[in-house]
Amino acid sequence: MSPDHDSPNRPTSLSPAQAADLQQRAVAVAHHAYAPYSNFHVGAAILLTDGTIVTGCNVENASYRLTVCAEQAAIAAAVSLHGPKIRIRAIAVANLNETASQPCGACRQTIHEFSTPDTIVFFPAEGGAIAQATIAALLPAAFVLTNSSRRGSSKA
Ligand code: THU
Repeated sequence: MSPDHDSPNRPTSLSPAQAADLQQRAVAVAHHAYAPYSNFHVGAAILLTDGTIVTGCNVENASYRLTVCAEQAAIAAAVSLHGPKIRIRAIAVANLNETASQPCGACRQTIHEFSTPDTIVFFPAEGGAIAQATIAALLPAAFVLTNSSRRGSSKA
């Protein structure tokens, strides 16, 4: 874990045991990944604000652009299982390739959609370390669809 892992004053901080559990689940589900094209097996474990944990893995396709990332698979599963009001307290992302890897841009936007101001993302860093950052730090300028963004919405 990175040195800033323990932040006792932040109410959303995970305990070391919670973080380790989430990480283990991300690794476990990475073994389910369908990644015959990249051979990059990714797992994601989401801790929802109600304490529920949901996991997902990447699912590739011969038509490469149809690939689903692990984070997006986990979030789709979480919404499917628990409904549209889910909020992500933390998400751990792991790969089986022992390489540093941050969530891709599309996944950051997807995490942001269901985030809180304190949502934490754990991801593999150099040398086998696990880094953490808030989604706000990873995606400081997320796209948000406001009423004023929706053309003609005032007339709808
Ligand atoms: N991948 C993820 O599952 N999450 C990410 O955040 C980045 C990339 C997957 C997609 C693809 O199956 C493989 O990793 C290589 O890009």
